[in-house]
Amino acid sequence: MRIVLLGPPGAGKGTQAVGLVEKYNIPHISTGDIFRKNLKEKTELGLKAKEYMDKGLLVPDDLVVHIVKDRLLEEDCKNGFLLDGFPRTVGQAKALDLEMNKLNIVLNGVINLEIEDEILIERLTNRLVCRKCGATYNAKFNKPKLENVCDVCGGKLYTRDDDKVDTVKNRLKVYKSQTLPLIEYYEEKGILATVNSGLDSKKVLAEICKILE
Ligand code: AP5
Ligand code: MG
Ligand code: ZN
Repeated sequence: MRIVLLGPPGAGKGTQAVGLVEKYNIPHISTGDIFRKNLKEKTELGLKAKEYMDKGLLVPDDLVVHIVKDRLLEEDCKNGFLLDGFPRTVGQAKALDLEMNKLNIVLNGVINLEIEDEILIERLTNRLVCRKCGATYNAKFNKPKLENVCDVCGGKLYTRDDDKVDTVKNRLKVYKSQTLPLIEYYEEKGILATVNSGLDSKKVLAEICKILE
């Protein structure tokens, strides 16, 4: 199964990815997670990406594309993969097409998670992430059992630097101008399906699975 999860910041890409990678036994490839991991390790890539991420801007295509290309060549991608937050520009989508052509593989589906801006802002400004394992919670919609402690690993929860309300608004703007055109791009290819991501996350997952079957 080869899936792309498309959708604005806070739509629930990471949340849905957890259920999907388990169901289809495929790796979860989130370019945002890759940048954050690099930043934690203070690599050159991580520090460069931070300059853009902190402003709510997209990291330039040339820094993103080769990371994904290399990742798709790894052994665990042989039976499929889930891309979360990539592609995010038409340039990235074209680069992905080219690479997949070379590998003689196609996407099974592009899932567009649709949701209203007001809900997104509320979700993101209340998001909590585990510093240790990356599990995602929400102070309003999905509280951890113990305050600020990860249910899964006991790690401490933190707020992402780019989840400040002004940065969130900028990320939404950038999404509309640079990523929204991908909806038409994949619609024309006949592989796009739109799901209402404003529902309970289990319902959203069931909806996605139904589409992919
Ligand atoms: P990235 O980390 O991908 O951020 P994003 O796209 O802005 O998306 P988020 O991770 O914020 O949201 P999500 O959709 O995963 O939602 P989540 O499931 O966490 O990218 C960060 C930055 O890196 C970018 O701004 C850019 O600078 C750079 N970058 C990354 N990829 C790039 C690329 N390809 N090209 C260029 N630059 C790139 O859910 C959010 C919250 O809502 C959580 O608290 C969750 O618990 C809650 N929630 C989720 N679903 C539900 C539900 N159904 N009901 C109630 N609450 C819910
Ligand atoms: Mg995410
Ligand atoms: Zn954890």
